Amino acid sequence: MTRSFVAIEMPEPVAEALAHRVSGLRLGRPVPPEAMHLTLAFLGEVSDDGLEELHDALSAIRAPAPDIVFDAFGHFGDPRPRALHAAVRATPALVALQAAVLRAARRAGLAPERRRFVPHVTLARFRGREEDAAPLARFIGTLPRLDLPGFRALDFALIASELHPDGARYEVLAQYPLAA
Ligand code: 2AM
Repeated sequence: MTRSFVAIEMPEPVAEALAHRVSGLRLGRPVPPEAMHLTLAFLGEVSDDGLEELHDALSAIRAPAPDIVFDAFGHFGDPRPRALHAAVRATPALVALQAAVLRAARRAGLAPERRRFVPHVTLARFRGREEDAAPLARFIGTLPRLDLPGFRALDFALIASELHPDGARYEVLAQYPLAA
């Protein structure tokens, strides 16, 4: 079984810029730039056969490349913060791509997480402790506006996630092109 998800990876300069913006955070565990991504669907544990079918279904997606536009910094988890993230605008092309990925997963016989799609890139993770809430809110208050240039996502990826005590390790299993 492989713990897997489908995501748009951040190009290196974008990931480096995001990491730089939050480098002053002295709280939680930062996501290394090379691991930054925008999740389209989280699938959990998938069998080898399931992965094959998913790969076929994802390969059949024909969708326009969405523009990834950053909106603001934010956090998840109230009153116990779990993550600091860069919110991404839910443009029609991005929403359509996410819906196509969910359909592909269902066609492959999988049951993707049914969480509402809130596009974001997680930048740091916390242990869900109430005492982190105030310092995190203060830190977010010190951040300048998130005025990073966006980018056009020319592909998306099927990624395996292995959990380790020091954080998840990701391996890209396959990439799927999008129409520019
Ligand atoms: P997150 O960054 O907001 O935590 C791999 O775990 C990716 O899948 C993460 O980016 C995570 O989003 C996302 N994800 C969505 N639902 C998940 C779940 N139930 N468990 C773990 N990760 C999930």
